[in-house]
Amino acid sequence: MKTPLLLALSLAAATHSLAQSSSAVAPPAQPAPQIVFVDPDGPEAAEIRRIGESAMNRLSFTMVSELNTAIAKGGLEAAVDVAHLTHLKWVNSRLENWPQITAAKLTSLRLRTPLNSPDAADKLALDRIKEELSSSPSPSSVLVQRIGPAGGTPEWRVYRPIGVAPVCIRCHGNAENQSATLHAKLMERYPVDNATGFEAGQWRGLMRVTVDLTPPPSAKPAIKQP
Ligand code: HEC
Repeated sequence: MKTPLLLALSLAAATHSLAQSSSAVAPPAQPAPQIVFVDPDGPEAAEIRRIGESAMNRLSFTMVSELNTAIAKGGLEAAVDVAHLTHLKWVNSRLENWPQITAAKLTSLRLRTPLNSPDAADKLALDRIKEELSSSPSPSSVLVQRIGPAGGTPEWRVYRPIGVAPVCIRCHGNAENQSATLHAKLMERYPVDNATGFEAGQWRGLMRVTVDLTPPPSAKPAIKQP
């Protein structure tokens, strides 16, 4: 597989816990949302895939450019501050210049930070790629996923496996090869870092975007006054 380089960013969603008063009647349990992988080559996925892959091409390019620019300017330690895609602009919860992208994330089975932890649907995608890598000579280069109740409005996600390029090794390779200052900076920010020890060419994780084909609120036609 030609593994496309790179990334997505993580709008890491904070986990909210809902406090329940002791007198509240427990609501009926919500059925778990249906999570279905849709054939990326089929007609149902065509438009979602097209938009998702275009956005990820751009995000991958941006991620590598930001890294290279930051490394050139201030070295690896400075590049930690821009890893990865943390400076994307979001307008009304949509990616600037990509109004159909409502979320973008980098996730992995080996994490530097729990903020990038996979949710249930991400985990299914990670497990699927992991399984394919162990059993198939040509694992998927893209996954399309539909999440939601039958008949409801689904959430559509597009995933792309990302590989480890030589530049990635500088922060995700063997920790013993990191300079003392880089190591100290990473340890300070990411005390539980499981994202070292990678080698070039290995599978690093997934980039994922959420695609929403409904027009953003501002793009909806105004209702005509009688
Ligand atoms: C300058 C150091 C640096 C370089 C170089 C670097 N990364 Fe990272 N990477 C980080 C940091 C820091 C994080 C945690 C970012 C955050 O706080 O969300 C991270 C997180 C990630 C994550 C999210 C999952 C996790 O572990 O939290 C992935 C995937 C990832 N990097 C892939 C790559 C790839 C692929 C490359 C090469 C193209 C790369 N990285 C190069 C520093 C780096």
